[in-house]
Amino acid sequence: SSNQMWGGRFASGPDAIMEEINASIGFDKKLFDQDIRGSIAHATMLAEKGIISSEDREKIVTGLETIRTEIESGNFEFSRQLEDIHMNIEARLAHLIGPAAGRLHTARSRNDQVAVDFRLWVKEELMKTERALTGLIEAFLDRAEEHAGTVMPGFTHLQTAQPVTFGHHCMAYVEMFGRDRNRVRHAIDHLDESPLGAAALAGTGYAIDRHLTARALGFREPTRNSIDSVSDRDFALEFLSTAAICATHLSRLAEEIVIWSTPQFGFIRLSDAFSTGSSIMPQKKNPDAAELVRAKTGRINGSLVGLLTVMKGLPLAYSKDMQEDKEQVFDAAESLELAIAAMTGMVRDLTVRTDRMKAAAGSGYSTATDLADWLVREAGLPFRDAHHVTGRAVALAESKGCDLAELSLEELQGIHPDITKAVYDVLTVEASVASRKSFGGTAPAEVKKQIAWWRARN
Ligand code: ARG
Repeated sequence: SSNQMWGGRFASGPDAIMEEINASIGFDKKLFDQDIRGSIAHATMLAEKGIISSEDREKIVTGLETIRTEIESGNFEFSRQLEDIHMNIEARLAHLIGPAAGRLHTARSRNDQVAVDFRLWVKEELMKTERALTGLIEAFLDRAEEHAGTVMPGFTHLQTAQPVTFGHHCMAYVEMFGRDRNRVRHAIDHLDESPLGAAALAGTGYAIDRHLTARALGFREPTRNSIDSVSDRDFALEFLSTAAICATHLSRLAEEIVIWSTPQFGFIRLSDAFSTGSSIMPQKKNPDAAELVRAKTGRINGSLVGLLTVMKGLPLAYSKDMQEDKEQVFDAAESLELAIAAMTGMVRDLTVRTDRMKAAAGSGYSTATDLADWLVREAGLPFRDAHHVTGRAVALAESKGCDLAELSLEELQGIHPDITKAVYDVLTVEASVASRKSFGGTAPAEVKKQIAWWRARN
């Protein structure tokens, strides 16, 4: 049979394959609450403006509330023939309240309807993400506070570089997730405009009030261009790009957790709650959660590229291609929520093996820069010469298979006569870390300042 929404122009119904490729109800039913809220705001505005009667408005609102209850309680039969959430709800409304249902779609199109529904959904998801990031930052601040003085090796090229503290390393992630949260806030700010009332693309001849519906739905203001209102999906792209950047940060952290929890590094131990065993190797404790966070990043980045690719060739205004926006966003949102939650749990639970970190910090000549700095400061050498002298000391220690601090004073003086016993004070990892008091540096006192700065802003 032909379609109940546009059957007037059609002699026959769609091919089965047409129905299958066309239907979005399988995934856009997620938007039922946003769709109902959008319709209530629209109907209320129509009544306020005298475009529909207040009796019809009452019937519409009551019917929509009933439908919401039906869907929430699992008593709603979704139909693929009815294509999407919008038409499923409208058809049910007609069944419940009769002809008044047909007045709801006055001065509206599915194009502005889906745009407003999806914006509402993305806005709410962004707000959830903002809260989740605050929780993750909180977890890091707690661990950073606890470990402001825990020395570990800092790396470049994954080779031991200079001693840092675990607290300082944690605070690096606080900075990243803090910026991610700012990106989330900006994304909310950018999308906070209501497209409802743009209708199909050109606006409408009915005397609607778009400011009223915008306010009722919690948007700052209505969008200013009806064509843009129904064509734009950059709010979804901004969600995805924000998610992709955040996931990339999570993935780097996940990678570090994987490395640090190996027996070879042994910097941390994951809690039982956030690891798995092996069905064959009894000794194993695997960082599966971290690995899955790393892998979810692939999906999220894929969603971003997927939707960018869908959008890049579309002429204005609406094309059905845009129906493909939702699954990318839903999948990325679910992945990101899970990834942040899993990471927050891992960070809160993990055991820091301070002895292992400290031992590793002292190996690999990590205080060589401190020796060079000492030569500049105490012996007046230009830094490049000090670098060369220190390089010879490292080569000597390496040939003897010992640490810099284990070279005798005679050996050091053989390399440069101005070296004195005082040099040993800067060769320890604690001294190295404590000396780096520059703003943003790794000295425990400085890290504590950064923690306080963030506490006041989280
Ligand atoms: N299900 C559609 C979507 O997600 C709703 C909008 C349909 N509009 C249209 N003109 N066919 O995009």
